[in-house]
Parts: sequence; structure tokens; C-alpha cells
Amino acid sequence: MRVGIIGAGVAGLATAKTLLQAGHEIVVYESAPDVGGVWSRTRRYPGLTTQSAKATYGLSDYAMPRDFPEWPSGAQVQAWLAAYAVEFKVEPHLRLSTRVERAERAGDRWTLMLSTGDVDTVDRLVVANGVFCEPQLPDLPGLASFQQAGGEVLAGTQVHDAEIARGKRVLVVGYGKSACDVTVPLSTVAASTHVIARQLLWKVPRKIAGVLNFKMLLLTRMGEALFRYHRLRGVEKFLHGPGNPVRRSMLDSLGSVSVRQYNLRRLGLVPRGTMEGIIKGAIGLCTEGFFEGVAAGTIVVRRDTTITRLLTRGGRPMAALSDGTELPADLVVCATGFRQGVPFLDADTQRRLFDERGNFRLYRQILPPDVEGLYFNGYNSSFFSPLNAEMAAVWITAHLAGAVPLPDPAAMCRQVEAQLAFMDTATDRHHCRGTKIIPFSLKNLDEVLDDLDLNIGRWGRAAQWLAPVDPSAYRAVTPALVARLRAREDAFENA
Ligand SMILES: Cc1cc2nc3c(=O)[nH]c(=O)nc-3n(C[C@H](O)[C@H](O)[C@H](O)COP(=O)(O)OP(=O)(O)OC[C@H]3O[C@@H](n4cnc5c(N)ncnc54)[C@H](O)[C@@H]3O)c2cc1C
Ligand SMILES: NC(=O)c1ccc[n+]([C@@H]2O[C@H](COP(=O)([O-])OP(=O)(O)OC[C@H]3O[C@@H](n4cnc5c(N)ncnc54)[C@H](OP(=O)(O)O)[C@@H]3O)[C@@H](O)[C@H]2O)c1
Repeated sequence: MRVGIIGAGVAGLATAKTLLQAGHEIVVYESAPDVGGVWSRTRRYPGLTTQSAKATYGLSDYAMPRDFPEWPSGAQVQAWLAAYAVEFKVEPHLRLSTRVERAERAGDRWTLMLSTGDVDTVDRLVVANGVFCEPQLPDLPGLASFQQAGGEVLAGTQVHDAEIARGKRVLVVGYGKSACDVTVPLSTVAASTHVIARQLLWKVPRKIAGVLNFKMLLLTRMGEALFRYHRLRGVEKFLHGPGNPVRRSMLDSLGSVSVRQYNLRRLGLVPRGTMEGIIKGAIGLCTEGFFEGVAAGTIVVRRDTTITRLLTRGGRPMAALSDGTELPADLVVCATGFRQGVPFLDADTQRRLFDERGNFRLYRQILPPDVEGLYFNGYNSSFFSPLNAEMAAVWITAHLAGAVPLPDPAAMCRQVEAQLAFMDTATDRHHCRGTKIIPFSLKNLDEVLDDLDLNIGRWGRAAQWLAPVDPSAYRAVTPALVARLRAREDAFENA
């Protein structure tokens, strides 16, 4: 088949590689001039590194180079993904600087209108456009006069050089990973740096108590089991039954370590609620240098506030906050999250795709039960997104060959609704319209691979209880699928 893939981030590239290995013709459309998605030079802010430790942010057959640090830089991750595209011969199929403007179902094919003016047709379409790619900026009344007075508003992803903040009064809006990250380099050159935090979120240290790599605690099956999934198995039954006090004290002690390690009480930055509520903030890692900057006075956090409007006073750009104060603001950086959307899909497809609350209705985070010939990848954003995306690519490849046993569409829809209802409760609706599976990353891997009867063995999974996930443990999955599909084809031809 001829398969179109929208996006050359890790999900698009892994899909392209897997489909090529299964013998399909592919074309990858990418609006940016380079591959890498969130790691593209067009999006990364200074100081960006992975959140996942190097060994866990990998693809089953393509680990990051050994000489990369434990938390590789954005530029290193981009280079690694570019090399992956070359290694697996995806590169010749890339159409960079090419945005898919519209995708319309035409019979059993898809017609694509491209920013280059070309029109293309594909048999199947994979949407891998990224769920943390398109910044969501808040509505800021007074923007026009603020800009006329020389004030500037940027998304976090538009900050590529800290020098733009030199000597300026900077406000960073948000308290997620992007906000804390971008604050640190800006604060080293700015005249002042205030973080406007609507609510404080819990942050996990990269090295807990300065010693233990967080991956040992949270990127394991044991770490995942601390959060209640809708089906409990084995040890999970104990942890969420008689062992609940043990489980809670494990999470709470992580919270108290973080409070002590960063002196949060003294800084007045202890978040409300318990550490268990961390999943609302997607289990953000603490940014190196952030609380140190607060302690040194180079970063000021205005907790429980928002910007209500931008204004000018005596011709100077200012921001009014919800607590009644006004701050000088030459530069406002909004690290306020991302918009999950598919504006290029036709209206009828969009209608079938979303539930009444605007959540994506995707079976296994991949397949819209009511739209034919369409798949999604990267809509399973996790603690180790590349591996989840790669295994989703395997699922898509199997499905294209009719090799995924599925329930009937009505049962699939029920399953999708149940999963969304569960995630609503588990994450207090912080699942980005159904596209984020944190903290149930391994559960998603298991479900995707169990569908195909291609999960890694019992011992491999048992090892993940205490050892962090290692993508190379999944190395045999794609070759096993490709061999299975070839054998089916041979049997078909011989029959
Ligand atoms: C700054 C940052 C750091 C992160 N760090 C981690 C981490 O450490 N660990 C982790 O597990 N996850 C992390 N994530 C989550 C991250 O989203 C995934 O790790 C992963 O990189 C997403 O890959 P993707 O291919 O799904 O999407 P993206 O990387 O967002 O790629 C999507 C691509 O689609 C392209 N595109 C979109 N629309 C169109 C169109 N209409 N036509 C053509 N092209 C289009 C975009 O230009 C983009 O290149 C991070 C996210 C962010 C924002
Ligand atoms: N590898 C890395 O180091 C790295 C770096 C960046 C991002 N990421 C990942 O990318 C994803 C997105 O992270 P993110 O930090 O960019 O976004 P995010 O987690 O969605 O955080 C957005 C922040 O902005 C605030 N906010 C949203 N709308 C606002 C508004 N209108 N007014 C004021 N504040 C507003 C939110 O407050 P509320 O909490 O009140 O909603 C939150 O503090 C996460 O999964 C993250 O882990 C990873």
C-alpha cells in the first residue's frame, strides 16, 4: 500500500521505518525543515534535555550513542533521530518543509493538499503530528497596546536563544516542565525573571536525595504499580488493597524528599495536595537550577496567580496579575502547554473522531473505530514515548495486513469510552484529550503487544519490576511481525 505519514517526529519516523520493513510504499510529510518534532531546531529552547534518562528514551533497535550524557540535549536527540532516518532508509521518503493543509477521504483513499501546492493521494493515512507540538497560548487582553509599547509575547518553543532576554524584565507563564526549563537560562541574563504559576505542581528530582536516579523508581513496573490501573494484577492487588499504606508512604516519602531536597518549605513552594496528585502535572522532573535560582533570588515564583491583562503605564509594558499586583514586563514567555488537534482533517472525519467532550476516540490510542483507513501514532505520550510509538507502529503494520484480531466496532467504542472514563478519574482529566497515557506507559505496551501475541516474555517483563524499561528488550518484536506477515503472504500465494 501507499501510506502517507503526517509528521517526522519519533512517532512518524518509527512508523515509516516499520512500514518500509513490511514492504509498503511510504511518504512522510513534515512541515519543519528538519526531522525530530519536539526536538527540531525550530522548537527547542536553550538548555532543553530529555526528561527520560537516555537508556529509556530509545527505540528497540536504535539506542542513543554511548557517549551521550544521561539526559541528552535537544540537539543530540534531534541528531539521533536524523541518523535513525538515514540508518533505516526513511530519509529518501521524507518531504520536509511540507505541511499537510487538508486531508480528505476520497472513496477508500485519502487526498492530501500540501503547502507546496501539490496534491497527493495515499491508500492509508497515519497522523503522527505530535500532541505537544502546537503551543496553546492564553488569551491576554491588552496585547496590542502592550506590543506597541515594545512588549513581546512568545511561546516557550519560540525561545531559541537566551540572549533575547538580556537586560529585560521577563515573565514566564506556567509551572510545567517547559516553564521551569525555559526560566533557568533566561534568568541568567534577564534584569528580572518572574514565574507566574496558576498552581504549583509536584516535581521529582532527577536524582532522588541526590543519589538515586528517578528512573529506578518511576520508570519500572513497580513505579507504575503505585498508581491504580483499572485492572489490577498480582502485586498491584496487594498494593491497592492491604498494601495501600505502604504504597501511599512510598509516594509521600518521594514528596517529602523533594520538599527537603529543594528546601521548598523555606521557599514557600510546597504544592497543595499529596504527591499522588503529581500525575495531574504529568510527573514532571525538576529542572536543574530552578529552585537554586529561586533561593538565590534570580527567579521569583508568583504562586497561585495568572496574568489577567497586559497594559502600559507611562508607555512601559506591564502585566496585571490576578492578585492585584502589576509587574513591568518587556518579555512574556507562555509555556502554557500545547493544543491537541487535527485541523487538516475534513469536518466529517473530525465529527467521527471526537467524543462530546472533545477527547480523541482511539482504540489502543491508535485506531478511530468509526473512520476507515486512518491511524494515529504518538497519541500514547508516555514516560518513554519512543518505545510506545514504535510498538504502536508495529500494531499499525499488523492491522494494515489484517492481522490484528479486534472486537466488533461497538465493543471497540465501549472499550474506548471506558478507557477515557478511567483516565478522567485517574488523572483528574489531565490526559490531554485522551492522548497521554502517563503513568500507565507499560500497561499500554502490554495491551498493544498482547493484541498481536508479540509481547516480550514473562521473564523480560518480570525484570521490569525493579529495572527501568529497556527498549532493546523489544528488539525482536518487529522482525517477528515481519516474518509472520511474510509467511502469511507465502501461504496465500501457494494456496
Ligand atoms: C520539550 C519536550 C520534551 C519532551 N521530553 C520527553 C521525554 O524526555 N520523554 C518522553 O517520553 N517524552 C517527552 N516528551 C513528549 C514528546 O512529545 C515525545 O517524546 C515525542 O518526541 C513526541 O513525538 P511525536 O512524533 O509523537 O510528535 P512530535 O515530536 O511533536 O512530532 C510531530 C511532527 O509533526 C509535524 N506536523 C504537525 N502537523 C503537521 C502537518 N499538518 N503537516 C506536516 N507535518 C506536521 C510537526 O512539525 C512535528 O515535527 C517531550 C515533549 C516536549 C514538548
Ligand atoms: N524532556 C523535557 O524535559 C520536557 C520539557 C518540556 C515538556 N515536556 C513534556 O511535554 C509535555 C507538556 O509540558 P509543558 O510543560 O509544555 O506543558 P504542561 O505540562 O501542559 O504545563 C502547562 C503549564 O501552563 C499552565 N497554564 C496552562 N494554561 C494557562 C493559562 N491560560 N494561564 C496560566 N497558566 C496556564 C498550566 O497550569 P495548570 O497546571 O493550572 O493547568 C501548567 O503549569 C509534558 O508531558 C512534559 O512532560 C518534557
